[in-house]
Amino acid sequence: MQQLDDKVAAITGAGSGIGRALALELAGRGCRLAISDVSSEGLAETERLLGGRARALTVSVVDVADESAVLGWADQVVADHARANLVFNNAGVALSGTVAALSTDDYRWIMGINFWGVVHGTKAFLPHLEASGEGHVVNISSVFGLTAQPLMSGYNASKYAVRGFTESLRQDLELTGSRVSATCVHPGGIKTNIARAARTDASTAAAMGKPSDAAAHDFEKSFITSPAKAAEVIVEGVRKDKRRVLIGPDARLIDVMGRVAPAGYQRLMTGVVRKRAAR
Ligand SMILES: NC(=O)c1ccc[n+]([C@@H]2O[C@H](COP(=O)([O-])OP(=O)(O)OC[C@H]3O[C@@H](n4cnc5c(N)ncnc54)[C@H](O)[C@@H]3O)[C@@H](O)[C@H]2O)c1
Repeated sequence: MQQLDDKVAAITGAGSGIGRALALELAGRGCRLAISDVSSEGLAETERLLGGRARALTVSVVDVADESAVLGWADQVVADHARANLVFNNAGVALSGTVAALSTDDYRWIMGINFWGVVHGTKAFLPHLEASGEGHVVNISSVFGLTAQPLMSGYNASKYAVRGFTESLRQDLELTGSRVSATCVHPGGIKTNIARAARTDASTAAAMGKPSDAAAHDFEKSFITSPAKAAEVIVEGVRKDKRRVLIGPDARLIDVMGRVAPAGYQRLMTGVVRKRAAR
């Protein structure tokens, strides 16, 4: 999709971080916006920051884990804006703790948002994107969809799942001659709220030898890219119809590491986290 001007873009998780930055970036490129989030406060702040710059704007509180809510929102977007060209399945949460300590409910919670949220958004919007004549699905995975880290099993599982789903989706669309395309995004560390908003099990503090907020703060030190830059890279990736978008030098390094040493990188990751714990 070379031309974004006047396109209708739907964004989940637009009340903070990358989703908010995508709203600002796409408004600047002339898109009509349908933004959603589970947080009405976050959405109000995004709306304030947009300051009337979007060509058109609708704002909806939607929990992406709720299939019928996402289906209803997709229909409403088309009712309000007459079509939908782009969906950014961006809403996400983080979970930290050892496999031994995390409950199966913790895994259901994170998969419900990070994986099922992406499936719900993709399936709800796909017929509308097809009907628009030119559509694009953008699913946000992570570098943690390329390589794993200790204490992140739930997040890793959800982001690997998003990657597999999206890479297969892209091939489905090509095979069937669709007018819709798909991109999987793998951000490195982006300066957002994600670590502070994470669900953190007590096993994290035990493994890291410090309170969980201090461990989250240490983790945030590896966040090197601004949300605005991330949004710009994502939008350029859509314009160039890239299958896979990596964001930041850390993402490029991790991608190479995972491919060159698919078993060996794990020792390195454990070492990095051990070092962080010793600080
Ligand atoms: N920040 C990073 O370093 C990083 C790296 C790789 C991938 N990501 C991914 O980027 C995406 C955006 O995260 P972010 O970093 O901007 O984090 P963030 O916490 O700043 O924003 C996430 C947004 O998602 C919303 N959200 C949470 N649960 C929801 C639900 N059930 N339904 C709808 N909205 C919900 C939150 O309210 C919040 O506004 C996520 O999928 C995340 O996993 C982030």
